[in-house]
Amino acid sequence: MLRHCHPDPLRRGLLAAGGLAVLLAALAPRGAAAQAAASGMRIGIIGAGRIGGTIGGLWVKAGHPVMLSSRHPEELKDLAASLGPLAKTGTVAEAIAFGDALFIAVPYGALPQIGKDYGAAMKGKVVLDACNAVAGRDGSAVADEVEQEGIGVVSQKYLGGARLVRAFNTMSYAIFAREAHRPPPRLAIPIAGDDPDAVKVAAALVTDAGFDPVVVGKLADARKFQRGGPGYGQSVSAAELRQKLSLAP
Ligand SMILES: NC(=O)c1ccc[n+]([C@@H]2O[C@H](COP(=O)([O-])OP(=O)(O)OC[C@H]3O[C@@H](n4cnc5c(N)ncnc54)[C@H](OP(=O)(O)O)[C@@H]3O)[C@@H](O)[C@H]2O)c1
Repeated sequence: MLRHCHPDPLRRGLLAAGGLAVLLAALAPRGAAAQAAASGMRIGIIGAGRIGGTIGGLWVKAGHPVMLSSRHPEELKDLAASLGPLAKTGTVAEAIAFGDALFIAVPYGALPQIGKDYGAAMKGKVVLDACNAVAGRDGSAVADEVEQEGIGVVSQKYLGGARLVRAFNTMSYAIFAREAHRPPPRLAIPIAGDDPDAVKVAAALVTDAGFDPVVVGKLADARKFQRGGPGYGQSVSAAELRQKLSLAP
């Protein structure tokens, strides 16, 4: 069950606008108390590099408590300090335990090992997955697997019982940093997942980060916005993205 236990009035205020209503709606079926949910969702970041640090920072600004992690958490202390008291650092295991939701942003080739090491701890958790498979970095075996089976299906295979949602994989962290909370129309972020409640949580977190979520479909549909797909690299509004992907307006 999702956990929310930070009755901080400042965070409540920060969360009062934007994605909160959506977040509460998403959490309701899980039985979380509305009062508790209003104080923010704990988010564990696995791989707080360029993309993990950027999106994690946007969630801190939205009032969510965030734990940044990597294999070298001591290297993340300056980043956490720059983000303020809602940000802390920890090991990967600590971030997984901390998060009501997780965001994973590591080189794709690390996913099989992360699944082996932490799959049990991630079981049942909402996991937003921004990882892309790049043959030159991750090896041609996993890149070919992703090409053949589709990235959402392959990520779910490696991350076992996680409630996986593909998100934030299609553009550079620099674009996310620059375009977050821009005046309407906001930048669209395609997302896809098999678990409807997890997709709702991911959509709310995309909104809180300052973007418009566009639900493309199930994990199998995530290939539409993986590298080389028609939705990849599209720096457009939600209406334009739906049109490009032939989704209902
Ligand atoms: N950069 C972008 O603009 C962008 C945009 C969309 C998607 N992506 C995708 O997001 C992922 C990350 O890209 P990035 O550019 O953010 O990379 P990055 O800056 O190199 O950051 C990767 C992070 O993952 C950590 N890490 C690596 N292996 C790990 C492991 N086995 N366990 C735990 N943490 C690990 C690294 O820290 P340690 O080495 O200290 O563990 C680092 O914090 C990639 O799959 C990439 O394709 C990137």
